[in-house]
Amino acid sequence: MIARATTEAIRQAADILRRGGIVAFPTETVYGLGANALDVGAVQRVYEVKGRPSTSPLIVHTDCLARARGLAEQWPEEAERLAEKFWPGPLTIVVAKARHVPHQVTAGLPTVGIRIPRNAIALELLRAAQVPVAAPSANPFSQLSPVTAAHVEEALGAQVDLILDGGGCEVGLESTVVSLVGPSVRLLRPGMISRAELEATIGPVEFSQSPPEGAHPAPGMHPRHYSPRTPLLLIDATAGLPPGRVAYLWWRNERAAVYSLRLPADPVRCASLLYHTLHELDRDHFDAIAVETPPEGIEWEAIRDRLQRAAHRI
Ligand code: TXA
Ligand code: MG
Repeated sequence: MIARATTEAIRQAADILRRGGIVAFPTETVYGLGANALDVGAVQRVYEVKGRPSTSPLIVHTDCLARARGLAEQWPEEAERLAEKFWPGPLTIVVAKARHVPHQVTAGLPTVGIRIPRNAIALELLRAAQVPVAAPSANPFSQLSPVTAAHVEEALGAQVDLILDGGGCEVGLESTVVSLVGPSVRLLRPGMISRAELEATIGPVEFSQSPPEGAHPAPGMHPRHYSPRTPLLLIDATAGLPPGRVAYLWWRNERAAVYSLRLPADPVRCASLLYHTLHELDRDHFDAIAVETPPEGIEWEAIRDRLQRAAHRI
């Protein structure tokens, strides 16, 4: 069932979560598929509905710093500084997990990813639920993340107890994930809070683009992520467009195509449009979606990462 996110609907959603059900809800990044993080059965259902391998950990969402700290075994100084600067907001902080956080949520890892979102509906839901909410993006595994309630309905529909409709997601790209576990601070997933912003707050942050997501990536496996159903191809300055009915998204080099769209030169505006656009194009049955390689620069890191993962590998 899909419901406009009124106060009443949010209260109902909170009840569903407390009773072990699963609820899709808007955040500023993408829609999440939430379950009570302390209810192993509910968490299990999230994995099933998404078709997500049990080796891929979930982010735990909460509404305040005290509860966030309570999910961690230790709360490092860097976590405090990042939280102060970027929470509520599109940042996930990975720290050593508290004992009571079930290992089903963290895919067996001794760590937990925590986020306080800034979307008002998400915050109201988390406050009303009074339990930490484990929520991956509300899409089937490896597909494009949903940025409207309709996207969730289309992909998961009746398998979800309630879909809260809070309109389009403002940021439009999944949160930045940073790990404070281990000898150095590591960026695990770039997002619209850039590495430069993180470094200005806590010093050097390592980022190696190669390893795919997931707790225990199988050697040699590079699962596709964030992909539309239509084949997506990244096109550099010298390459031509593929044959057939092709949609072309670009920044610098216009080319003749059945459908062509110039993407914003500003990464924040571009991110907020990108998934909306890909979802729309996916419905139009193009033979391919060609995307020009994104601009250089650290502020484009997140968009480059998502497009590279979405692209069909040859
Ligand atoms: O913006 C977002 O983060 C959205 C909204 C709903 O909050 N959620 C989201 O969840 O994108 P999901 O499950 O699609 O992606 C979670 C990411 C994955 O890359 C996962 O590997 C990483 O966070 N992650 C979660 N817990 C982790 C942990 N303990 N250690 C390392 N990575 C972790
Ligand atoms: Mg996801």
